[in-house]
Amino acid sequence: MEFEQLIDELAKRLSNGQLIRATASQPRLKSDGLAKVKLKPVEIKKELHIQFEYHYERVLKHENVKIEDIRSALQQLMEQFKQLQAEFVEENVHIQLSKKFKVSWKSEKTAERKADLSHNRKKNYLLDDSTPYPFLIRLGVQTTEGKVKKQKYDKFRQINRFIEFIDDALDHLPKDRHVRILDFGSGKSYLTFALYHYLHIEKGLDIRVTGLDLKKEVIEECNRIAQDLEYKQLEFLVGDINDYNEETAVDMVVTLHACDVATDMALARAVKWGAEVILSVPCCQHELFSQVAAPELDVMLQHGLIKERFSALATDSIRAELLTLVGYDAQLLEFIDLAHTPKNILIRAYRTNKTPASADFSRYESFRNMLHAKPFLERELKDYGFLS
Ligand SMILES: C[S@@+](CC[C@H](N)C(=O)[O-])C[C@H]1O[C@@H](n2cnc3c(N)ncnc32)[C@H](O)[C@@H]1O
Repeated sequence: MEFEQLIDELAKRLSNGQLIRATASQPRLKSDGLAKVKLKPVEIKKELHIQFEYHYERVLKHENVKIEDIRSALQQLMEQFKQLQAEFVEENVHIQLSKKFKVSWKSEKTAERKADLSHNRKKNYLLDDSTPYPFLIRLGVQTTEGKVKKQKYDKFRQINRFIEFIDDALDHLPKDRHVRILDFGSGKSYLTFALYHYLHIEKGLDIRVTGLDLKKEVIEECNRIAQDLEYKQLEFLVGDINDYNEETAVDMVVTLHACDVATDMALARAVKWGAEVILSVPCCQHELFSQVAAPELDVMLQHGLIKERFSALATDSIRAELLTLVGYDAQLLEFIDLAHTPKNILIRAYRTNKTPASADFSRYESFRNMLHAKPFLERELKDYGFLS
Protein backbone atom coordinates (compact mmCIF):
# COMPACT_ATOMS: atom_id res chain seq x y z
CA MET A 1 0.00 0.00 0.00
CA GLU A 2 1.28 3.48 -0.89
CA PHE A 3 1.31 6.31 1.66
CA GLU A 4 -1.41 8.25 -0.20
CA GLN A 5 -3.60 5.15 -0.28
CA LEU A 6 -3.12 4.73 3.46
CA ILE A 7 -4.37 8.27 4.07
CA ASP A 8 -7.37 7.62 1.79
CA GLU A 9 -8.24 4.40 3.66
CA LEU A 10 -8.01 6.09 7.05
CA ALA A 11 -9.91 9.19 5.92
CA LYS A 12 -12.68 6.97 4.55
CA ARG A 13 -13.10 5.11 7.85
CA LEU A 14 -12.97 8.26 9.97
CA SER A 15 -15.46 10.09 7.73
CA ASN A 16 -17.89 7.15 7.83
CA GLY A 17 -18.08 7.18 11.62
CA GLN A 18 -16.16 3.91 11.97
CA LEU A 19 -13.53 5.11 14.41
CA ILE A 20 -13.75 3.98 18.01
CA ARG A 21 -10.29 5.28 19.01
CA ALA A 22 -6.73 5.42 17.71
CA THR A 23 -3.26 6.30 18.89
CA ALA A 24 -0.38 7.53 16.76
CA SER A 25 3.02 6.90 18.33
CA GLN A 26 6.74 6.55 17.52
CA PRO A 27 7.39 10.14 16.44
CA ARG A 28 9.90 10.63 13.62
CA LEU A 29 11.15 13.84 15.22
CA LYS A 30 11.81 13.81 18.95
CA SER A 31 12.81 17.47 19.12
CA ASP A 32 9.31 19.00 19.32
CA GLY A 33 8.40 16.91 22.37
CA LEU A 34 5.21 15.49 20.84
CA ALA A 35 5.17 11.89 22.06
CA LYS A 36 1.81 10.65 20.78
CA VAL A 37 -1.59 11.73 19.52
CA LYS A 38 -4.87 10.09 20.51
CA LEU A 39 -7.90 10.27 18.24
CA LYS A 40 -11.55 9.76 19.06
CA PRO A 41 -14.87 10.75 17.51
CA VAL A 42 -16.84 13.52 19.20
CA GLU A 43 -20.10 15.19 18.36
CA ILE A 44 -20.07 18.97 18.35
CA LYS A 45 -23.24 20.85 17.47
CA LYS A 46 -24.65 17.59 16.10
CA GLU A 47 -21.73 17.16 13.69
CA LEU A 48 -19.15 14.41 13.74
CA HIS A 49 -15.62 15.66 14.49
CA ILE A 50 -12.44 13.80 15.29
CA GLN A 51 -10.73 14.96 18.44
CA PHE A 52 -6.94 14.96 18.25
CA GLU A 53 -5.35 14.91 21.69
CA TYR A 54 -1.69 15.92 21.45
CA HIS A 55 0.53 14.53 24.22
CA TYR A 56 3.58 16.74 24.67
CA GLU A 57 6.00 16.07 27.51
CA ARG A 58 4.37 18.60 29.82
CA VAL A 59 1.28 19.72 27.96
CA LEU A 60 -1.90 18.17 26.60
CA LYS A 61 -3.59 19.97 23.72
CA HIS A 62 -6.89 19.23 22.01
CA GLU A 63 -8.08 19.96 18.52
CA ASN A 64 -11.47 19.03 17.10
CA VAL A 65 -11.13 18.41 13.38
CA LYS A 66 -14.10 18.65 11.05
CA ILE A 67 -14.67 15.71 8.73
CA GLU A 68 -14.05 17.88 5.67
CA ASP A 69 -10.55 18.60 6.99
CA ILE A 70 -9.78 15.09 8.15
CA ARG A 71 -7.70 14.00 5.17
CA SER A 72 -5.13 16.75 5.50
CA ALA A 73 -5.06 16.35 9.30
CA LEU A 74 -4.36 12.62 8.85
CA GLN A 75 -1.70 13.31 6.26
CA GLN A 76 0.11 15.64 8.67
CA LEU A 77 -0.26 13.16 11.50
CA MET A 78 1.10 10.21 9.57
CA GLU A 79 4.03 12.26 8.32
CA GLN A 80 4.97 12.79 11.96
CA PHE A 81 4.51 9.28 13.38
CA LYS A 82 5.63 5.81 12.36
CA GLN A 83 2.89 3.84 14.10
CA LEU A 84 -0.87 3.98 14.34
CA GLN A 85 -3.05 1.57 16.34
CA ALA A 86 -6.69 2.01 15.48
CA GLU A 87 -9.91 0.43 16.65
CA PHE A 88 -12.70 0.63 14.10
CA VAL A 89 -16.23 -0.69 14.50
CA GLU A 90 -15.37 -4.08 12.98
CA GLU A 91 -11.61 -4.33 12.95
CA ASN A 92 -8.42 -3.50 14.80
CA VAL A 93 -5.67 -2.12 12.59
CA HIS A 94 -1.96 -1.85 13.24
CA ILE A 95 -0.10 0.42 10.84
CA GLN A 96 3.66 0.68 10.72
CA LEU A 97 5.56 3.08 8.48
CA SER A 98 9.20 2.62 7.55
CA LYS A 99 11.76 5.42 7.45
CA LYS A 100 10.90 5.85 3.79
CA PHE A 101 7.12 5.76 4.41
CA LYS A 102 6.66 2.16 3.26
CA VAL A 103 3.32 1.05 4.72
CA SER A 104 2.61 -2.13 6.63
CA TRP A 105 -1.14 -2.55 7.34
CA LYS A 106 -2.23 -5.45 9.57
CA SER A 107 -5.86 -5.81 10.36
CA GLU A 108 -7.95 -8.31 12.31
CA LYS A 109 -11.71 -8.58 12.30
CA THR A 110 -13.56 -8.06 15.57
CA ALA A 111 -17.15 -8.39 16.69
CA GLU A 112 -19.05 -5.30 15.63
CA ARG A 113 -18.81 -2.36 18.06
CA LYS A 114 -20.68 0.87 17.90
CA ALA A 115 -19.05 4.26 17.74
CA ASP A 116 -21.82 5.69 19.83
CA LEU A 117 -21.35 9.42 19.81
CA SER A 118 -23.93 10.18 22.44
CA HIS A 119 -22.09 7.72 24.66
CA ASN A 120 -18.82 9.43 23.84
CA ARG A 121 -20.35 12.76 24.57
CA LYS A 122 -21.45 11.61 27.97
CA LYS A 123 -18.03 10.15 28.58
CA ASN A 124 -16.56 13.58 27.86
CA TYR A 125 -18.41 14.86 30.88
CA LEU A 126 -18.06 13.27 34.27
CA LEU A 127 -21.27 15.05 35.19
CA ASP A 128 -23.92 14.14 32.67
CA ASP A 129 -25.74 17.07 31.08
CA SER A 130 -29.17 15.46 31.27
CA THR A 131 -29.15 13.91 34.73
CA PRO A 132 -30.68 16.17 37.38
CA TYR A 133 -28.16 16.79 40.16
CA PRO A 134 -29.68 18.36 43.29
CA PHE A 135 -26.73 20.74 43.80
CA LEU A 136 -26.79 21.94 40.19
CA ILE A 137 -30.52 22.56 40.43
CA ARG A 138 -30.07 24.52 43.66
CA LEU A 139 -27.21 26.53 42.14
CA GLY A 140 -29.39 27.40 39.15
CA VAL A 141 -27.24 25.56 36.60
CA GLN A 142 -29.89 22.96 35.77
CA THR A 143 -33.66 23.10 35.56
CA THR A 144 -35.54 20.74 37.88
CA GLU A 145 -35.76 18.29 34.95
CA GLY A 146 -31.96 18.25 34.74
CA LYS A 147 -31.54 20.41 31.67
CA VAL A 148 -28.47 22.62 31.79
CA LYS A 149 -29.59 26.23 31.32
CA LYS A 150 -28.17 27.82 28.21
CA GLN A 151 -26.53 30.74 29.99
CA LYS A 152 -24.91 28.32 32.47
CA TYR A 153 -23.43 25.94 29.93
CA ASP A 154 -19.96 27.52 30.10
CA LYS A 155 -19.90 27.08 33.87
CA PHE A 156 -21.13 23.50 33.49
CA ARG A 157 -18.35 22.82 30.99
CA GLN A 158 -15.74 24.40 33.29
CA ILE A 159 -16.68 22.42 36.37
CA ASN A 160 -16.79 19.21 34.36
CA ARG A 161 -13.35 19.84 32.97
CA PHE A 162 -12.05 20.68 36.42
CA ILE A 163 -13.53 17.47 37.80
CA GLU A 164 -11.67 15.57 35.05
CA PHE A 165 -8.39 16.99 36.33
CA ILE A 166 -9.37 16.04 39.87
CA ASP A 167 -10.20 12.54 38.69
CA ASP A 168 -6.76 12.28 37.06
CA ALA A 169 -5.13 13.36 40.33
CA LEU A 170 -6.79 10.74 42.55
CA ASP A 171 -3.73 8.49 42.67
CA HIS A 172 -1.81 11.31 44.36
CA LEU A 173 -4.26 11.60 47.25
CA PRO A 174 -4.10 9.51 50.45
CA LYS A 175 -6.17 6.33 50.45
CA ASP A 176 -5.92 5.29 54.09
CA ARG A 177 -7.54 8.32 55.75
CA HIS A 178 -9.91 11.12 54.95
CA VAL A 179 -8.81 13.59 52.30
CA ARG A 180 -8.74 17.29 53.20
CA ILE A 181 -9.60 19.65 50.35
CA LEU A 182 -9.64 23.46 50.22
CA ASP A 183 -11.27 25.56 47.50
CA PHE A 184 -9.96 29.12 47.77
CA GLY A 185 -12.06 31.98 46.36
CA SER A 186 -14.95 29.56 45.99
CA GLY A 187 -17.54 32.27 45.23
CA LYS A 188 -20.89 30.70 44.34
CA SER A 189 -19.06 27.39 44.77
CA TYR A 190 -20.18 25.50 41.68
CA LEU A 191 -16.84 23.72 41.68
CA THR A 192 -16.83 23.07 45.44
CA PHE A 193 -20.23 21.37 45.29
CA ALA A 194 -19.32 19.50 42.12
CA LEU A 195 -16.13 18.07 43.55
CA TYR A 196 -17.94 17.08 46.74
CA HIS A 197 -20.63 15.38 44.70
CA TYR A 198 -18.17 13.59 42.44
CA LEU A 199 -15.65 12.48 45.06
CA HIS A 200 -17.96 11.74 47.97
CA ILE A 201 -21.34 10.87 46.49
CA GLU A 202 -20.28 9.20 43.26
CA LYS A 203 -16.87 7.78 44.23
CA GLY A 204 -17.57 7.26 47.93
CA LEU A 205 -14.32 8.87 49.09
CA ASP A 206 -13.96 10.02 52.66
CA ILE A 207 -13.34 13.74 52.18
CA ARG A 208 -13.70 16.99 54.09
CA VAL A 209 -14.08 20.05 51.92
CA THR A 210 -13.95 23.75 52.77
CA GLY A 211 -14.77 26.61 50.43
CA LEU A 212 -13.44 30.02 51.47
CA ASP A 213 -14.46 33.39 50.09
CA LEU A 214 -14.66 37.04 51.07
CA LYS A 215 -18.36 37.35 50.24
CA LYS A 216 -20.47 36.84 53.35
CA GLU A 217 -23.93 36.54 51.76
CA VAL A 218 -22.75 34.17 49.08
CA ILE A 219 -21.06 31.96 51.65
CA GLU A 220 -24.17 31.94 53.86
CA GLU A 221 -26.25 30.77 50.90
CA CYS A 222 -23.70 28.03 50.11
CA ASN A 223 -23.87 26.80 53.70
CA ARG A 224 -27.67 26.71 53.51
CA ILE A 225 -27.53 24.61 50.34
CA ALA A 226 -24.94 22.25 51.86
CA GLN A 227 -27.14 21.78 54.93
CA ASP A 228 -30.31 21.24 52.90
CA LEU A 229 -28.57 18.63 50.77
CA GLU A 230 -27.06 17.02 53.88
CA TYR A 231 -23.53 17.41 52.54
CA LYS A 232 -22.13 16.91 56.03
CA GLN A 233 -18.45 17.04 55.20
CA LEU A 234 -18.71 20.27 53.21
CA GLU A 235 -18.49 23.70 54.83
CA PHE A 236 -18.08 27.27 53.65
CA LEU A 237 -16.21 29.99 55.52
CA VAL A 238 -16.05 33.74 55.10
CA GLY A 239 -12.50 35.01 55.06
CA ASP A 240 -9.44 36.24 53.23
CA ILE A 241 -7.09 33.58 51.88
CA ASN A 242 -4.16 35.56 53.24
CA ASP A 243 -5.48 35.35 56.79
CA TYR A 244 -6.45 31.70 56.61
CA ASN A 245 -4.18 29.89 59.01
CA GLU A 246 -6.59 27.31 60.39
CA GLU A 247 -4.95 24.21 58.97
CA THR A 248 -1.74 22.34 59.52
CA ALA A 249 -2.11 19.90 56.63
CA VAL A 250 -4.24 19.89 53.49
CA ASP A 251 -4.12 17.25 50.75
CA MET A 252 -5.52 19.15 47.79
CA VAL A 253 -5.95 22.87 47.10
CA VAL A 254 -8.08 24.01 44.17
CA THR A 255 -8.88 27.46 42.83
CA LEU A 256 -11.05 28.45 39.91
CA HIS A 257 -10.63 32.03 38.75
CA ALA A 258 -9.41 33.37 42.10
CA CYS A 259 -8.64 36.96 41.17
CA ASP A 260 -5.08 38.13 40.50
CA VAL A 261 -2.74 37.44 43.47
CA ALA A 262 -5.48 35.54 45.34
CA THR A 263 -4.25 32.62 43.20
CA ASP A 264 -0.71 33.17 44.52
CA MET A 265 -1.94 33.30 48.10
CA ALA A 266 -3.64 29.96 47.56
CA LEU A 267 -0.57 28.42 45.91
CA ALA A 268 1.67 29.62 48.74
CA ARG A 269 -0.63 28.15 51.37
CA ALA A 270 -0.81 24.86 49.50
CA VAL A 271 2.99 24.68 49.41
CA LYS A 272 3.31 25.45 53.12
CA TRP A 273 0.85 22.67 53.94
CA GLY A 274 2.68 20.30 51.64
CA ALA A 275 -0.51 19.63 49.66
CA GLU A 276 -0.06 16.60 47.42
CA VAL A 277 -2.18 18.11 44.67
CA ILE A 278 -2.66 21.71 43.53
CA LEU A 279 -5.09 22.50 40.72
CA SER A 280 -5.51 26.17 39.93
CA VAL A 281 -7.08 28.09 37.07
CA PRO A 282 -5.88 31.68 37.48
CA CYS A 283 -7.74 34.80 36.49
CA CYS A 284 -6.86 38.43 35.74
CA GLN A 285 -3.10 38.19 36.32
CA HIS A 286 -2.45 41.95 36.64
CA GLU A 287 0.48 41.91 39.02
CA LEU A 288 3.32 41.76 36.49
CA PHE A 289 1.76 44.26 34.08
CA SER A 290 2.94 47.22 36.15
CA GLN A 291 6.35 45.63 36.84
CA VAL A 292 7.52 44.18 33.55
CA ALA A 293 10.29 46.20 31.98
CA ALA A 294 12.74 44.51 29.62
CA PRO A 295 14.31 46.53 26.79
CA GLU A 296 15.03 43.24 24.96
CA LEU A 297 11.27 42.73 24.71
CA ASP A 298 10.22 46.26 23.82
CA VAL A 299 9.19 45.19 20.33
CA MET A 300 6.43 43.25 22.08
CA LEU A 301 5.88 45.26 25.25
CA GLN A 302 5.38 48.60 23.49
CA HIS A 303 1.88 47.31 22.62
CA GLY A 304 -0.46 47.43 25.62
CA LEU A 305 -2.48 44.45 24.44
CA ILE A 306 0.60 42.29 23.96
CA LYS A 307 2.08 43.48 27.24
CA GLU A 308 -1.09 42.43 29.04
CA ARG A 309 -1.08 38.96 27.50
CA PHE A 310 2.65 38.59 27.94
CA SER A 311 2.39 39.57 31.62
CA ALA A 312 -0.35 37.01 32.20
CA LEU A 313 1.66 34.25 30.49
CA ALA A 314 4.85 35.25 32.31
CA THR A 315 2.97 35.22 35.63
CA ASP A 316 1.74 31.68 35.07
CA SER A 317 5.16 30.53 33.86
CA ILE A 318 6.73 32.01 36.99
CA ARG A 319 4.13 30.30 39.15
CA ALA A 320 4.86 26.92 37.56
CA GLU A 321 8.61 27.46 37.85
CA LEU A 322 8.39 28.46 41.52
CA LEU A 323 6.28 25.40 42.28
CA THR A 324 8.89 23.23 40.55
CA LEU A 325 11.62 24.86 42.59
CA VAL A 326 9.87 23.97 45.84
CA GLY A 327 9.59 20.31 44.86
CA TYR A 328 6.44 20.04 42.78
CA ASP A 329 5.99 18.48 39.38
CA ALA A 330 4.20 21.48 37.86
CA GLN A 331 2.56 21.71 34.46
CA LEU A 332 0.55 24.34 32.63
CA LEU A 333 -2.31 22.62 30.84
CA GLU A 334 -5.12 23.69 28.58
CA PHE A 335 -8.22 24.04 30.75
CA ILE A 336 -10.96 24.90 28.28
CA ASP A 337 -10.79 25.48 24.55
CA LEU A 338 -9.81 29.11 23.84
CA ALA A 339 -13.02 29.50 21.86
CA HIS A 340 -14.97 29.33 25.14
CA THR A 341 -12.81 31.37 27.51
CA PRO A 342 -9.48 33.19 27.38
CA LYS A 343 -8.90 32.00 30.97
CA ASN A 344 -7.78 28.67 29.69
CA ILE A 345 -4.64 27.70 31.58
CA LEU A 346 -4.72 25.30 34.47
CA ILE A 347 -1.73 24.97 36.80
CA ARG A 348 -1.39 21.38 37.91
CA ALA A 349 1.21 20.57 40.54
CA TYR A 350 1.86 17.22 42.20
CA ARG A 351 4.20 17.15 45.19
CA THR A 352 7.39 15.13 44.70
CA ASN A 353 10.50 14.57 46.77
CA LYS A 354 12.69 16.09 44.08
CA THR A 355 15.24 18.71 45.10
CA PRO A 356 15.89 21.17 42.31
CA ALA A 357 19.44 21.79 41.13
CA SER A 358 21.00 25.19 41.77
CA ALA A 359 21.04 25.72 37.98
CA ASP A 360 17.21 25.59 38.08
CA PHE A 361 17.18 28.44 40.61
CA SER A 362 19.57 30.43 38.42
CA ARG A 363 17.39 29.84 35.37
CA TYR A 364 14.38 31.18 37.23
CA GLU A 365 16.25 34.12 38.70
CA SER A 366 17.66 35.27 35.37
CA PHE A 367 14.16 35.17 33.84
CA ARG A 368 12.69 37.13 36.74
CA ASN A 369 15.58 39.64 36.65
CA MET A 370 15.29 40.10 32.91
CA LEU A 371 11.64 41.13 33.42
CA HIS A 372 12.39 43.22 36.51
CA ALA A 373 9.56 41.29 38.12
CA LYS A 374 8.94 41.00 41.83
CA PRO A 375 6.48 38.12 41.95
CA PHE A 376 4.11 37.95 44.90
CA LEU A 377 4.44 34.17 45.06
CA GLU A 378 8.21 34.35 45.33
CA ARG A 379 7.91 36.67 48.31
CA GLU A 380 5.41 34.30 49.90
CA LEU A 381 7.84 31.42 49.41
CA LYS A 382 10.91 33.34 50.56
CA ASP A 383 11.81 30.67 53.11
CA TYR A 384 12.60 28.30 50.25
CA GLY A 385 15.87 29.98 49.32
CA PHE A 386 15.27 32.34 46.39
CA LEU A 387 17.83 35.08 45.92
CA SER A 388 16.45 38.59 45.51
C1 LIG B 1 -14.24 35.15 39.73
S1 LIG B 1 -14.78 34.58 41.27
C2 LIG B 1 -14.68 32.84 41.06
C3 LIG B 1 -15.58 32.11 41.99
C4 LIG B 1 -15.63 30.59 41.82
N1 LIG B 1 -14.37 29.98 42.12
C5 LIG B 1 -16.10 30.22 40.44
O1 LIG B 1 -15.29 29.85 39.62
O2 LIG B 1 -17.30 30.33 40.20
C6 LIG B 1 -13.42 34.95 42.31
C7 LIG B 1 -13.75 34.82 43.78
O3 LIG B 1 -12.55 34.97 44.53
C8 LIG B 1 -12.88 35.63 45.72
N2 LIG B 1 -11.64 36.22 46.28
C9 LIG B 1 -10.82 37.14 45.71
N3 LIG B 1 -9.80 37.44 46.52
C10 LIG B 1 -9.98 36.70 47.64
C11 LIG B 1 -9.24 36.57 48.86
N4 LIG B 1 -8.14 37.27 49.07
N5 LIG B 1 -9.72 35.72 49.79
C12 LIG B 1 -10.85 35.00 49.59
N6 LIG B 1 -11.57 35.07 48.44
C13 LIG B 1 -11.14 35.91 47.49
C14 LIG B 1 -13.90 36.65 45.29
O4 LIG B 1 -14.70 37.09 46.38
C15 LIG B 1 -14.70 35.87 44.25
O5 LIG B 1 -15.84 35.27 44.79
